[in-house]
Amino acid sequence: MSNTTDSARVIIFDTTLRDGEQSPGASMNLDEKLRIAQVLEELGVDVIEAGFPIASTGDFEAVREIAKIITETSVAGLARAGSKDIDRAWEALKHAVRPRIHTFISTSPLHMKYKLQMEPEAVHEAVIDSVGYARNLCDDVEWSPEDGARTEHDFLCRCVESAIKAGARTINIPDTVGYAVPEEFAALIEMVINRVPNIDQAVISVHCHNDLGLAVANSLAAVRAGARQVECTINGLGERAGNAAMEEIVMALRTRHDAMPFHTGIKTEYITKASRLVSTITGFVVQPNKAIVGANAFAHEAGIHQDGVLKHAETYEIMTPETVGLTKSILVMGKHSGRHAFKEKLKELGFELDDAAAEDAFRRFKNLADKKKEVFDEDIVTLVDDEVVRANDRIRIVSLKIICGTEAPQTAELVLEVDGEVRRTTATGDGPVDATFKAIAELFPHDANLQFYQVHAVTQGSDAQAEVTVRLEEGGKTVNGQGADTDTMVASARAYIHALNKLLIKREKTAPTALSA
Ligand code: KIV
Ligand code: ZN
Repeated sequence: MSNTTDSARVIIFDTTLRDGEQSPGASMNLDEKLRIAQVLEELGVDVIEAGFPIASTGDFEAVREIAKIITETSVAGLARAGSKDIDRAWEALKHAVRPRIHTFISTSPLHMKYKLQMEPEAVHEAVIDSVGYARNLCDDVEWSPEDGARTEHDFLCRCVESAIKAGARTINIPDTVGYAVPEEFAALIEMVINRVPNIDQAVISVHCHNDLGLAVANSLAAVRAGARQVECTINGLGERAGNAAMEEIVMALRTRHDAMPFHTGIKTEYITKASRLVSTITGFVVQPNKAIVGANAFAHEAGIHQDGVLKHAETYEIMTPETVGLTKSILVMGKHSGRHAFKEKLKELGFELDDAAAEDAFRRFKNLADKKKEVFDEDIVTLVDDEVVRANDRIRIVSLKIICGTEAPQTAELVLEVDGEVRRTTATGDGPVDATFKAIAELFPHDANLQFYQVHAVTQGSDAQAEVTVRLEEGGKTVNGQGADTDTMVASARAYIHALNKLLIKREKTAPTALSA
């Protein structure tokens, strides 16, 4: 946790699992949330906002289970201003070593009038009641005026002062709709510091959305104005255009310490791992030119640049790839690499697998090495992630053969194992993907709709592994499935079947059924 006596220390509050998960299509299951929470703790974030417990049973369970396993980092749960929400949040958080209730209510004229349909006086009362109620349950309470950046200053100061009096230890000023510009947002933070008499009793936090692409700039401007907590997400995931990207904030503070003399507790060498995990789980591919974690962020293509970097890295590199965890590989893997080297490589990449899982991963690595000249670290990360997500699958691919080309129809011969029972079919379709997905539907009839299908190459070259994301929707629930293989069609089938397996888990939670479909 942060050392609050260090006035230059910026608290990193990660909301990937709450605001990030609110991105349409980014929903994650319990197991995935636990994996992300563990990586966030390893990364050294100060607070993990694990979810919004009243929003759904899934959210409640995720916050509760994360609260049980996380020991170093504070775990926060979101609650609207009302005893029901706050009770539910506390129920989920009460086993945490460091629990935090984060309660909020809208304070802008627009939100109060149209969304809440409440008078400002009633909102002010609700602030006092909700913070006081939360504080009776939990020592660590954060309060947010939603749409704070568009709230009238007098009213904002009044609510902040009352929230602190009622027991809030952190006051978070959100730019909910990503409307602010840096100078204006910094001035807002300064105004709150100058006008709220008891502000020294709370940490000021900011929560910036990226609708105008200014979330990181606004957050950093706020830090320079006195904010000491930043709410952010891995890869900038979040509602609409997302939240401020954690990796950008942290690396900007680290790299430009001369201009911004503040620091965080983030172990930056875990940034790449966290970014890849969030991207794999959500299926939100990171754009290649994304700062810090994009595939090209440290790649030098132009001859002049390459020449410069070889002579002296700082000519074109303001940070080293190693600082964000892009290590130069010590062990180069190929088809002659044995078990021992593979296990060492897993350790080098930060994986801790039990013997059975390591053996499975080794078998897949050998297969891959037979097909691919060079096996890069990214290939191994993809392969292991794929193995981990598939561990409990009830539907598995036994074999897939595709006939495709210029002459239609394309044909897929598929053999699946469903709860141990082998099923086989041949289906035709409009293209190989269509034929494959139709074959799956024949062997395992279902009502899920395909919402999203995306292929991306893990590394370069025509023998690169394809990483496929499939999003399925059934009865209002969406799930993302992932699959990887050097054969794009096999990766597609794996991704579709992974998503189906996840839907089955969701179905079972509501009403356990045999796999009779
Ligand atoms: O964007 C926002 O205002 C929020 C609050 C709940 C903090 O996410
Ligand atoms: Zn938000």
